[in-house]
Amino acid sequence: MSFRSTTAAEYVEDVSPGSGALPPRAWYPASDAASLSLNGSWRFRLSPTADAEDDAFAEPGYDAGGWAEVSVPGHWVLQGQGAPIYTNHLYPFPVDPPRVPTENPTGDHLRFFDLPDGWDLTDGGAVLRFDGVESCARVWLNGTDIGEFKGSRLPHEFAVGRLLKPAGNVLAVRVHQWSAGSYLEDQDQWWLPGIFRDVTLLHRPAGSVLDFFVHASYDHTTGQGTLRVDSDVDGRVSVPALDIDVATGEPVTVPVEAWTAETPKLYDGVLATEGERVPLRIGFRTVELADGLIKVNGRAVLFKGVNRHEWHPEKGRALDLETMREDVLLMKRHNINAVRTSHYPPHPDFLDLCDEYGLWVIDECDLETHGFTEQAWRDNPVDDDRWTPALLDRAARMVERDKNHPSVVIWSLGNEAGTGRGLTAMAEWIHGRDSSRLVHYEGDIDCRDTDVYSRMYADHAEVERIGQGLDGGTHKRRQLPSILCEYGHAMGNGPGGLADYQRIFESYDRLQGGFIWEWIDHGIKDDRYEYAYGGDFGEELHDGNFVCDGLVFPDRRPSPGLVEYKKVIEPVGIEGDGTTLRVTNKQDFADLSALAFEWSYQVDGETIESGSLAVPALAPGESADVKLPEPPAATGGGETGWTVRARLAADTAWGPQGHVVAWGQLPVSARQSPPFAATVGPVSGEGLITLGPAVFDARSGALRSIGPVDVTGLRLDVWRATTDNDDGAAWQSDVRYAALWRKFGLHRMRHRLDAVEPAGDTLTVRTRVAPAAWEFGLATVYRWTSDGDRLRLTVSVSPDGDWTVPLPRLGIRFGLSSADRVRWFGGGPEEAYPDTKSASLVSRWESTVDDLQTPYVRPQENGARADVRWAEIGGLRIEGDPEFWFTARRWSTEQLDAAAHRTDLTPGDTVWVNLDHGQHGIGSQSCGPGVLPQYQLHAGPAEFSFVFSDIG
Ligand code: GAL
Repeated sequence: MSFRSTTAAEYVEDVSPGSGALPPRAWYPASDAASLSLNGSWRFRLSPTADAEDDAFAEPGYDAGGWAEVSVPGHWVLQGQGAPIYTNHLYPFPVDPPRVPTENPTGDHLRFFDLPDGWDLTDGGAVLRFDGVESCARVWLNGTDIGEFKGSRLPHEFAVGRLLKPAGNVLAVRVHQWSAGSYLEDQDQWWLPGIFRDVTLLHRPAGSVLDFFVHASYDHTTGQGTLRVDSDVDGRVSVPALDIDVATGEPVTVPVEAWTAETPKLYDGVLATEGERVPLRIGFRTVELADGLIKVNGRAVLFKGVNRHEWHPEKGRALDLETMREDVLLMKRHNINAVRTSHYPPHPDFLDLCDEYGLWVIDECDLETHGFTEQAWRDNPVDDDRWTPALLDRAARMVERDKNHPSVVIWSLGNEAGTGRGLTAMAEWIHGRDSSRLVHYEGDIDCRDTDVYSRMYADHAEVERIGQGLDGGTHKRRQLPSILCEYGHAMGNGPGGLADYQRIFESYDRLQGGFIWEWIDHGIKDDRYEYAYGGDFGEELHDGNFVCDGLVFPDRRPSPGLVEYKKVIEPVGIEGDGTTLRVTNKQDFADLSALAFEWSYQVDGETIESGSLAVPALAPGESADVKLPEPPAATGGGETGWTVRARLAADTAWGPQGHVVAWGQLPVSARQSPPFAATVGPVSGEGLITLGPAVFDARSGALRSIGPVDVTGLRLDVWRATTDNDDGAAWQSDVRYAALWRKFGLHRMRHRLDAVEPAGDTLTVRTRVAPAAWEFGLATVYRWTSDGDRLRLTVSVSPDGDWTVPLPRLGIRFGLSSADRVRWFGGGPEEAYPDTKSASLVSRWESTVDDLQTPYVRPQENGARADVRWAEIGGLRIEGDPEFWFTARRWSTEQLDAAAHRTDLTPGDTVWVNLDHGQHGIGSQSCGPGVLPQYQLHAGPAEFSFVFSDIG
């Protein structure tokens, strides 16, 4: 006896891609055929299961008056109906492919529309296009069932001409959150059901365009481009600027300017068939695998890329054109030259923008089955022939939609889907359909199906071995170029070690760069938390803030990680000592003529002279030594140096004239230690000790004040609120220090007072700093002296016992009762840590305490300024000997450590200041390698000084 009744919703669990849709074809944003956007407000009803409601709502005349409304494009869970769920790779339902749970939130959508005036129902037909619906939809027009489909981030078109009426059309769409398709869409992101991309009705006049393929290659040996547009419907192709006017299918070769991401030359053209004129934007370029390298137009390219998910903090994956443009402009302005569309084809407009502004694109198919890893990949759909039609459908929908974009240079089969015959079938189909591009899939470790050896999160040493060709692998793999499709995990503070990767990429031809994981934090704007992450919606399973791992914050403000990346991947090298300057063009195609160079000369961080610098328009890869002017006359022994900047010489499509593309600093004369001579000694009084401007507690030796400035709680500090990269990912096999730091009690160090010794010109306070339960510690001596006006502290630290972990930080902290503005001479303007310091520019800087904070979605250590010579805050001037790391915040490290969201942090009365002699690096261990040895802060004898003065 069977208890399973057959229901109308069986298609939901069917492995097939769907039924009723038209074959996939090229997407184009505009034509002279009429079209009607069906975006806007739709009627909406949410039901708890796939078949809780019958089909009656699809019938004309159905009364949906009591229904809610949602915006299309949109996700209903972000519009007050149901809730989002975040999991990294776990399926949020039992794994029993292709079955899905009975609890299957289902959204019925209704849209009523009239045809615009002049829409000729007698001429040809019409097509209804859905650009993206998650995860499965069934569609009715005027009561007729026209089909159902899966493949959330792929377009689906239906022929609907015969069903249309001039007025009173009813479009009904039933969207199921879960379907067989969900098994193929296990990307690390929010599960967000809904009609999240455009819905459009397209008039298809008789003789209108069907599919077409623009082949536009470039021969770098002749400078000629060859254009051939294959079209299902015969017509003509014209490109006025090239005097081209040929029949479709006919090749034509003419001299052209090539398209590259650096020089994105597009030619406007038209494809005209009997019934339609479609504007074309043609970029001539040739992609090939040659000499074991990915070459475009005959030259190897170096990808300086990012992985981009589509994200908006209020709209989820329903992005508007301006948001997409913002992404592209931000990327271009931060020297990024490549995007992997992780892990699905983006809104098609995004690729138009990549063509227009110039970005290399790895277009990735909407496929990930990562959750099967939990069962050793058993029953993985990509290795099960029943699913292969769905996989091929996905490959075809991507390739056919996006094949006319010059920016797309590599097709990717998907992400983290294990291995299997289905993937091989996809690769074979893609190679057969489009031999003009390469195929990528990171999971194909032997490169059986792919044209590039791709790795994710490989550590520096492995990347170097790959570069040297010493990584082994199959014979085929050894012949191939290599990229890191993901590296530099930008979760919270970091990623660290990017400059070290870049040096390796630039050292070996085989390494063609990489793509940072990832572009944007997927935080959801939320009244409770500012930005919500996994678990904030009561999900049964979730992966917390692992969804916030981008180079830009959810509101697209660049994080320090993006600023660091911009510096690391600069297209121009500016290096040298104080006398010679070496400029290198690190681009692959463009010369330096778009840039204007300037020099400035600093004394103690202040620019005293500046001017322009003549730099030859070096060809890609060329270097030149450039003569700097005579240094301005010496000014009293200060620290001096040059800063050289390369700026856009004129406005470009993506950046204004003057935009800084690259810079370098060349020190001339080094900083001298701040002069200081102890002239007065400690004077003991009534429970107090006075030393120059300072007052101490006589019993504890604690500093009370410096002149009028009250100081509380000054003591050695080794703790920092652990970063996501300190914490590391649970699956990392390497040592994860944050857990050990907590085990060893570095967050609860005790300070034992051993002696307070006012003697001679020095007040000496001896302590031992150590955690309960452990036998190791830090013997710490504070030596205070004064020259009458100023106060000098020298801290000596001698570790004892068996220190098996590095220290998070080493320095002092203290509280000030009032502080707001901060001035400093040192690295800035943004935070920096030992392995995230490339973008830290030594200069004079000013900020407020609030603006020193970096707003990581999950609060953690942030905001340190590197190489600080002196800082002024709260009426004190602090000079370091040597330079120090400066941090100030309106809450304590303990409060920062305890906070889960920024809304947990409330400013107190005290501003806590940390002056650090050392900081442990950041690394990328939230999903990658830890801190490189040279950036680790090991416990060892240390001595450092600060000179404090009251500046009123
Ligand atoms: C990768 C995966 C990404 C993301 C990243 C961690 O393994 O491809 O989708 O999950 O790890 O943030």
